[in-house]
Amino acid sequence: MMGYRKFDLFIWVLSVLCLGWLCSGFYPADIYLIDCGSPANTSVGNRVYVADNLASKFLSTPKDVVANISLKSITSFDDSPLYQTARIFTESSKYTFSISQSGRHWIRLYFYPFVFGGYDLSKAKFSVSTQNHVLLGDFSVQNASVVKEFSVSVTSDSLVITFTPSKNSFAFLNAIEVVSVPAQLITEDALWRTESGKFQGLTSQALETSWRVNVGGPTVSFENDTLWRTWVPDQSFLVNENLAKDFSNIAAVDYDVGSALATKDIAPKIRFNIHEQNT
Ligand SMILES: *[C@@H]1O[C@H](CO)[C@@H](O)[C@H](O)[C@H]1NC(C)=O
Ligand SMILES: *[C@@H]1O[C@H](CO)[C@@H](O)[C@H](O)[C@H]1NC(C)=O
Ligand SMILES: *[C@@H]1O[C@H](CO)[C@@H](O)[C@H](O)[C@H]1NC(C)=O
Ligand SMILES: *[C@@H]1O[C@H](CO)[C@@H](O)[C@H](O)[C@H]1NC(C)=O
Repeated sequence: MMGYRKFDLFIWVLSVLCLGWLCSGFYPADIYLIDCGSPANTSVGNRVYVADNLASKFLSTPKDVVANISLKSITSFDDSPLYQTARIFTESSKYTFSISQSGRHWIRLYFYPFVFGGYDLSKAKFSVSTQNHVLLGDFSVQNASVVKEFSVSVTSDSLVITFTPSKNSFAFLNAIEVVSVPAQLITEDALWRTESGKFQGLTSQALETSWRVNVGGPTVSFENDTLWRTWVPDQSFLVNENLAKDFSNIAAVDYDVGSALATKDIAPKIRFNIHEQNT
């Protein structure tokens, strides 16, 4: 689908093993946060997603359709204010972001299917691509909010993200983020999970986040992560939950600035505190 072999890699594990180079307090060179269809800026945690009209300069679409849903009809599970509005694309449309610093960038796409006038967003089917990669093909969102996170390497001075409706359908988007990734976060090579040796040449690959697991710990929401990542608990990934015991010592976590062994950008404090013990 994305023009690369399906990686079964522990990039995360590798990143944690390769601690040591990130300075804390990373500030992304490129950062675009847009609340599509929203008449006003939306704050989520300490971030501001700009109103749709402030982002119109990035968007090229043949037909402007903005949609909204009243807050009341969004269940508590989908309570993010980003999900209250959306852009609907009846034809191929694209966002073009200028990139000031080449390198890996996160693309986060937020979707929540609601009904707006004649548009039932759960019926939408579409693909999303960049200049070099198809990120989503014949994609649809049934009934719950979905965040799709990719990281792509950008070498040109712009990143073009195109939404193309499938035949007789349309596309939609509730919010979009394009944010620089710290250069050292994803290394050039990674370990195979099932094969020996290393995969080389990760830099040029587009990656999709499958799971970001907090081993032995709770969910860490993006608001508690310096790079806005969400970490999920590992219970559902354990083969035998009864054999694992959680152990944590939050006070002991020390991001030592001098020795720079570990930083908040590798993983937030809650994440580091947790070690899993097999009994
Ligand atoms: C919305 O956010 C943008 C970017 O942070 C800012 O420049 C603009 O002034 C904000 N608009 C309002 C109405 O707060
Ligand atoms: C929601 O959409 C309706 C119909 O287009 C519009 O009249 C209304 O102003 C919108 N509300 C918000 C908060 O954007
Ligand atoms: C949402 O979809 C999933 C799978 O597609 C289904 O199992 C679940 O029952 C649905 N939930 C609702 C509220 O429709
Ligand atoms: C962030 O972490 C603090 C301390 O662990 C916790 O109290 C708070 O609920 C977390 N915030 C979110 C949004 O999860």
